[in-house]
Amino acid sequence: YPSNLQMEDSSGLRQAMCRAKGGAPGFKVAILGAAGGIGQPLAMLMKTNPLVSVLHLYDVVNAPGVTADISHMDTGAVVRGFLGQPQLESALTGMDLVIIPAGVPRKPGMTRDDLFNINAGIVRTLCEGIAKCCPNAIVNLISNPVNSTVPIAAEVFKKAGTYDPKRLLGVTMLDVVRANTFVAEVLGLDPREVDVPVVGGHAGVTILPLLSQVKPPCSFTPQEIEYLTNRIQNGGTEVVEAKAGTGSATLSMAYAAVKFADACLRGLRGDAGVVECAFVASQVTELPFFATKVRLGRTGAEEVFQLGPLNEYERIGLEKAKKELAESIHKGVSFIKK
Ligand code: NAD
Ligand code: LMR
Repeated sequence: YPSNLQMEDSSGLRQAMCRAKGGAPGFKVAILGAAGGIGQPLAMLMKTNPLVSVLHLYDVVNAPGVTADISHMDTGAVVRGFLGQPQLESALTGMDLVIIPAGVPRKPGMTRDDLFNINAGIVRTLCEGIAKCCPNAIVNLISNPVNSTVPIAAEVFKKAGTYDPKRLLGVTMLDVVRANTFVAEVLGLDPREVDVPVVGGHAGVTILPLLSQVKPPCSFTPQEIEYLTNRIQNGGTEVVEAKAGTGSATLSMAYAAVKFADACLRGLRGDAGVVECAFVASQVTELPFFATKVRLGRTGAEEVFQLGPLNEYERIGLEKAKKELAESIHKGVSFIKK
C-alpha cells in the first residue's frame, strides 16, 4: 500500500486523538466507489462536513490517489483509503453511514435497467460486507437501477439476518434537487425557497413530482405541468446525452448525495424535524418499496409519510409508476432469491 496513505493514517490517528480530547462529535462515514465520477466530488464534500470525524474511501481502483489528495484538505475528518476486495472489511468496520455510488453509469440510448446485470452483483458484494462488518450502519444506496438495487440490498440483509428497513435508503435526492431547480425557474423564485416532493422511484415514469404540493403554494398551467413533469422525469437522460458517452450526472449527484447524507447524520445526531424524500421499505402503496418523504432520526427512516392529496394528473402518473416499479422491485428480489 503506498506509503503516503500509511503516513496519513498515523497523522490521522493523532488528529483523531486531539478531537477525542476536545470531545468534538462526529460520525464515521464510508464511501464505496469513492474514486468514481460521483465518488470523488462526494468524498471531497464529505471531507468538509463538520459532522464527519472519519471518512473511509473504498474503491477497486485509484483509492490511494483520491485519498492522498483529499486528505490534504484542512478540515476535521480523518481520511483513510482502502483498495480492492481484500480491504473491504477494514473499510466498513465501525461505520455509522455507508454511501454507495459504486457501479457503471449509463451511456446514451441506455435505460437505468440496462445497468442491472453489472451493478446488481456489485451491490450484492458490498452489502454482504456491510452485513458482516457494520450491520447497524445507515446505508445510502446510489447505484442504479435504484428501483432494483434497494430490493437487492434488502434481500442480502435479510439473508444475513441483519435487515432493518429503517436503515436502508435509496437516494432519490437528485430528483428533488432537479425538481426544485426546474420549478424555481418556471416560478421565477430562488430554488432554495422551493420544496417539491418527488415520490415513486428513480427511473423514468416512476419519478413522480407532486406539483400540487409544491411549497410555497403555487399553481401551474397544464402546459407547465407537462413540461415540468417530463423534464424532472428525464433529467438524468438530459445529462447522459449532454455528456455524450462519457457518463451520467456526477457533480449534481455528489451535491444531492451530500445533502441527503447530511440529513441522515443530523437525524442520527438526534435533530428534530429532518425530513427528505427517499426510496424505502414502505406501506404507503401496495408495493414493498416506494419513495416518499421520510423523517430521519437516530435509527434511520423513523417515519414514512403518506402521499397526501393527489390531483387527477398525479393519480394517473402514480398508476404508471407503480406498474414499472413492481417489475423493477421483483427483478431485484429474484436476483438474490434465485
Ligand atoms: P463511475 O464509473 O464514474 O464510478 C463508479 C466507481 O465505482 C468507479 O470508480 C469504479 O471503480 C467503482 N466500482 C466498480 N465496481 C466496484 C466494486 N465492486 N466495489 C467498489 N467500487 C466499485 O460512475 P458514476 O458516474 O460515479 O456512477 C456510479 C453509479 O451511480 C451508477 O450506477 C450511476 O447510474 C449511479 N447514479 C445514481 C444516481 C441517483 O440519483 N441515484 C445519480 C447518478 C448516478
Ligand atoms: C440520474 O438521474 O442522473 C442518474 O440516475 C443517472 C442516470 O443514469 O440518469
